[in-house]
Amino acid sequence: MIKVIECSGKDVPFGSYLEHDITSKNDVLLLKKGTVVDSRVKGLLNNYNGIIKVSVEISDKVKDAIELGKTVESDNSLVLDDTIKERTLKGVEYMYSIADSKDTAIVARDTSTILLNTVKRSSAINISLKDLKVSDDYTFKHCVDVATMAILVGQSLGLRQSDISDAATAGILHDLGKTKIPDEILNKPGRLTDEEFNIIKQHPVYGYGLIEKSRDVSENVKRGILMHHEKVDGTGYPLRITSEKIGLIGKLLAVVDVYDALVTKRPYRDDMIEPATAIEMMLSMGNQFDAEFLRSFLQCVILYPIGSSLMLSNKKVYTVVAQNIGYPLRPVVSDVITGEKLNLLTDSNCLSLTIVAGV
Ligand SMILES: [Fe+2]
Repeated sequence: MIKVIECSGKDVPFGSYLEHDITSKNDVLLLKKGTVVDSRVKGLLNNYNGIIKVSVEISDKVKDAIELGKTVESDNSLVLDDTIKERTLKGVEYMYSIADSKDTAIVARDTSTILLNTVKRSSAINISLKDLKVSDDYTFKHCVDVATMAILVGQSLGLRQSDISDAATAGILHDLGKTKIPDEILNKPGRLTDEEFNIIKQHPVYGYGLIEKSRDVSENVKRGILMHHEKVDGTGYPLRITSEKIGLIGKLLAVVDVYDALVTKRPYRDDMIEPATAIEMMLSMGNQFDAEFLRSFLQCVILYPIGSSLMLSNKKVYTVVAQNIGYPLRPVVSDVITGEKLNLLTDSNCLSLTIVAGV
């Protein structure tokens, strides 16, 4: 069922369609009727004065929610305790310091095993994205985060244990090739030149080269390192190959790597991107990711844990009471004053509401 709703510019729901042209004060056409609302369009509409009509497909969302699973009233999130964080970070740190050594692969395998065993013991099926950061140091934190998410997404995809183990090891190793990139390029504040970016784009090749001869990790892991920046539509690097040629691990790492890179503070970017914005950006990247892998990623991440408080665009404060599996941006919430429950995914009167902030 298609439903037309009216809302202000900043409340236009992600994924809805404009029901009319949007013009500037001087009558210049800014957006055409029928444009889908993605992050770019949301950004343009943020300061738009006036009411906008958009259409939303309610039935598909409801149908998808049922197909993707259900509303669940308890989080089963992975918690990495301090000892695990410390051990894995030390492992990655050491591994980077001996990048050229034949022991690198063994250290990576051992480090990923610590993470794998932690996930197995906990029987966690998802992760709260706010709990993920294990260190402020970009490279080491990023490797542990990517490996941790790769394990959970691999689980959600129903991969074999050996593939999940390979995904974790490749997650730990995937950026090893950055040790071959000069520091002044890697940590350059400000924008990279095309030439500098082309050098950075070689890091999957360098990483593959460092690990190519090792007998301690599988071919799957090596291919994952080489292909972690490939995109299913062929716009990735360094090989620019498309979906059918990108291996399982490469596709899996591509999703979790982009997410983690977006939310992590980088030398060339002052502002932090919020997890919710990063997910919206990924949804708007359309064909770059394998749909099944992206869906599995969305199924095992939690943006707003149960019990956390949120401010919605109607200026009221709510408590998260349940998750809609696969839709981390649209949980079930309860008004802190009246107790009224709203399912932000399936209640048709909620479609114009957006989460403004965690409070
Ligand atoms: Fe990378």
